[in-house]
Amino acid sequence: MKFGHFDDEHREYVIETPKTPLPWINYLGSKEFFSLISNTCGGYTFYKDAKLLRLTRYRYNDVPMDINGKYFYIKDGDTVWNPGWKPTQTDLDEYECRHGIGYSKFKGVKNGVRADVLTFVPVNDNCEVSRLVVTNDSSAEKSISIFSYVEWCLWNADDDSRNFQRNFSTGEVEVKGSAIYHKTEYRERRNHYAVYSVNAPITAFDTARDSFLGLYHYAGDPEAVLNGKLTNSMASGWSPIAAHQLDVTLKPGESKSYVFVLGYIENPVEDKWESHNVINKKPAEALLAKYDTDAKVDAAFAELNDQWDKLLNIYTVDSSNDKVNRMVNIWNQYQCMVTFNMSRSASYYESGIGRGMGFRDSCQDLLGFVHLIPDRARERIIDIASTQFQDGRAYHQYQPLTKKGNSDIGSGFGDDPLWLIAGTSAYIRETGDTTILDEMVPFDNDESVAETLMEHLRRSFGYVDTHRGPHRLPLIGRADWNDCLNLNCHSTQPGESFQTFGPSEGPVAESVFIGGMFVKYGNEYADICDLKGLTDEAAKVRASVAEMNEILLDSSAGWDGEWFVRAYDSYGGKVGSKDCEEGQIYIEPQGFCVLAGVGKETGQAQKALDSVKAKLDTKYGVMILQPAYTVYHEELGEVSSYPPGYKENAGIFCHNNPWVSIAETVIGRGDRAFEVYKKTCPAYTEEISEIHRTEPYIYCQMVAGADAKFHGEGKNSWLTGTAAWTFVNISQYILGVYPTLKGLSVDPCVPADFGDFSVKRVYRGVEYDITVKQNGVQKGVKQLIVDGAQVEGTVIPYDASKKTVKVEVVMG
Ligand code: BGC
Repeated sequence: MKFGHFDDEHREYVIETPKTPLPWINYLGSKEFFSLISNTCGGYTFYKDAKLLRLTRYRYNDVPMDINGKYFYIKDGDTVWNPGWKPTQTDLDEYECRHGIGYSKFKGVKNGVRADVLTFVPVNDNCEVSRLVVTNDSSAEKSISIFSYVEWCLWNADDDSRNFQRNFSTGEVEVKGSAIYHKTEYRERRNHYAVYSVNAPITAFDTARDSFLGLYHYAGDPEAVLNGKLTNSMASGWSPIAAHQLDVTLKPGESKSYVFVLGYIENPVEDKWESHNVINKKPAEALLAKYDTDAKVDAAFAELNDQWDKLLNIYTVDSSNDKVNRMVNIWNQYQCMVTFNMSRSASYYESGIGRGMGFRDSCQDLLGFVHLIPDRARERIIDIASTQFQDGRAYHQYQPLTKKGNSDIGSGFGDDPLWLIAGTSAYIRETGDTTILDEMVPFDNDESVAETLMEHLRRSFGYVDTHRGPHRLPLIGRADWNDCLNLNCHSTQPGESFQTFGPSEGPVAESVFIGGMFVKYGNEYADICDLKGLTDEAAKVRASVAEMNEILLDSSAGWDGEWFVRAYDSYGGKVGSKDCEEGQIYIEPQGFCVLAGVGKETGQAQKALDSVKAKLDTKYGVMILQPAYTVYHEELGEVSSYPPGYKENAGIFCHNNPWVSIAETVIGRGDRAFEVYKKTCPAYTEEISEIHRTEPYIYCQMVAGADAKFHGEGKNSWLTGTAAWTFVNISQYILGVYPTLKGLSVDPCVPADFGDFSVKRVYRGVEYDITVKQNGVQKGVKQLIVDGAQVEGTVIPYDASKKTVKVEVVMG
């Protein structure tokens, strides 16, 4: 069942009912000012850091669902309603929400009044613009009141939700004309404030929440709105808000437009005040003046769309499969950009006060956006590498505002170092910019111990190479990609963190998965060494990789007979083996070892993937392990803590489904690669939205596995490495346009009935117009013709002197 539809021409998902199975959200903002917005106008706003500079409040586990947002109320006689249905939940005659790329639109119609809201964050300003247009579609004159409402957060969202004994006494506001200023803590150490204003004179306002809502009311029945009259309250402590009242008369057919701006302002310390304790509003007024007419709003909206046109033209596909076209050309790349902006910090499942940027997460996210914003990817690589330790390990997370490693979680995740190679290699393959390798990058943000990025990569590889266990496999430490495989933790007390309890490294627990990564990224590192002319180092690295390859295929180490072992626990016992009672097979080493090419020649690759199909596949995707753990295993950690079928305990982790799909392309099985792609692909799961429940235009992290009560139900949408890996899978492996160090390679692996297709790709400043004649073949390039001339192999030689290149690929 669907709750809306795709409008590909406008790059929008059109939600037709406010009662979606879960809030379906969108993101506004692309630089420093961000909002989350749901299909019922729920959500919140922050500047740069969702924890430390939160502008508005949100309540995560409250009922009714999705509480707090930036709301408009319309009072028409005795009826009070919202264009986005919530929070009053008054039935609407018509409702529509269009989530677009960096903006959302709402349409609500009630009793002959129509309200259209367009909301977006302009490209170059720290504010959210919401234009509300009210239209009288009835045949009689209408007098209505419009109310706006936002609830301020007292900046530090974590403290705001805990430290009531202090915070109920700190709130301060100012009001000037239609502008309401939130200046809490500005008197002391903050030089920033927020403003919420409208480009029209107002009848009244409220800034104290209790005056607006009334005692024991909530946003669904605000007393002042029900009374039709805001009270001009001035907040003093408690909970400051900003609410405007506009009384409007509309003739039949008449429309009126109002522009609301929610902005963030920072003042220089020496220029904080206008007079004693009166804030300097000049910059705010300048900001508001930039959006005080419809024409200015239209221009800013056009600029935003223009920016996205440019980004989304970098990789486009035209195939006979609309769903593939829509995911590749619009939504998958959009989600990659959102993961760039948010990492794992702020979503409807990430509270914004918890995790900042993950080391491994950010490196993988980069794989999905490096072609879109290479300069910012470069910066990101340097930021990430700056949190590495001198021995090659790394902080597992860092804060976006300070860019410093997060010592609460610390280090010790065995896979982290290798992801830095993955990200850097992707950047160089995309841009050809090797100067990044010569950048001086600090360790643990200490400039006095800076070394080149190349040296950082060397230490990444070296750390894993020199930290091996009894089978010569890499030590796992606190965990590897699977954060919940905590083999050194041995936690028995509730509340202990599985990721930080126990030693950060043990001498025995090993990861086969990291072995697969070692092969994949070791090879990529060796190629980088070659590029730098370091042939001896390249040879040594390749020797280590070859040795690891053998270890992975050895049935006394990495190989279990029909599939790859997952790990060895701290007692040396196998994890993910036929010898185990539960958790006999895990997805990660099958996908990653094979995508690294391990076992391709020996037939073990095919065997491993056949086992995945036989043991882990479901109609909703490939599960992470089977059989699920039914009891808690102290020696395995968090993985066995979840009820069977959820999260890492036999859930369908969308993140590593593309590994399996990519692995299938490596052995040339296009039908199966695409089958795996389809199972978690939003454009396909849209049809089962009532089961899947999360947004049908983007990926979620996890879908409940076969053992779960709600098999097929998605959770944790938006901020997941799935976005990047799926884009890598579909764009580089299935459609096959892969950036190598030497140029673009075209080597598709598609289902037999996929048909001919074309890809437009801007790469290193050159526009490639690629057409593929598929000939019913799943993999294999018979002919590569570049600007009319036949070329050997699959790589298009890079020629910077050309602006456009015509490429014809004949499969066979
Ligand atoms: C984390 C990832 C991890 C994955 C699997 C996610 O929540 O952000 O770093 O790889 O879970 O455990």
